[in-house]
Amino acid sequence: HFNEVVHTVPMLSLGNVFSEQELSDFDRRVRDRLETQAEVIYTAEPKLDGLAINLRYEAGVLVQAATRGDGSRGEDVTANVRTIRSLPLKLQGSDWPEVLEVRGEIFLPRAGFEALNERMRLEGGKTFVNPRNAAAGALRQLDPRITAERPLAIYCYGFGQLSGGKLALSHSASIARLRNWGLPVSPEQQTVQGVAGCLAYYRDIGARRDGLDYDIDGVVFKVNSLAQQEALGFVSRAPRWAIAQKFPAQEEITVVEAVEFQ
Ligand code: IVH
Repeated sequence: HFNEVVHTVPMLSLGNVFSEQELSDFDRRVRDRLETQAEVIYTAEPKLDGLAINLRYEAGVLVQAATRGDGSRGEDVTANVRTIRSLPLKLQGSDWPEVLEVRGEIFLPRAGFEALNERMRLEGGKTFVNPRNAAAGALRQLDPRITAERPLAIYCYGFGQLSGGKLALSHSASIARLRNWGLPVSPEQQTVQGVAGCLAYYRDIGARRDGLDYDIDGVVFKVNSLAQQEALGFVSRAPRWAIAQKFPAQEEITVVEAVEFQ
């Protein structure tokens, strides 16, 4: 029901690490490739548990929004994404590139999720298991008026096609430009120094995780210098300059009350 979109620049995935040692190994590989002993500057940001999206602005106007799909081809969900209130349909200012593709994550804040499920319960409808499922359902509505009733939000964290080259010399400065054009970016993004800085950020956000108004499943670290990113390049559909440090899976204790064999 949605038209196919071929991504001009593929939407890649991220390598994962699950321990301090694995993060340290990642940093060692980065420094070896860059042939430097110096501590690397990384940007640190939450890994949002939502749905990746590619937003295409032409002459400052939102002309297309496409899901990630298999990374090469996604679905055209422009009409639904246009209903996200915090997302500008026209960028502020005038110094944006002619073609600007911005990548981000669409999610449902927890408060909105609770309110939506309460409404579904009252209307006798099916409730959603978690905010991610609810956001996915909202994004794939055939009627954008229904999407508009779901309080979706978005944070932008990356780039696809850009005319006229890079926006800045670093990832953090590029994200600052998005903020100036009115695009929502995570207020939790920080630049940190070396592995020690990454681990301090991971522990801090891990301690505050339950207090955030959205689900996160880890932290993403990106080499901040775009020149260093370019030198590092990619390996099998993931950048060598970024890594996700995932939180351990949340565990609960439950009781098996019965088993039915069929
Ligand atoms: S950067 C080249 N930053 O994680 C890689 N991804 O596991 C670009 N995600 O498909 C991704 N929060 O949907 C990046 N702050 C963040 C993110 C983030 C969530 C998702 C994204 C991506 C997946 C990869």
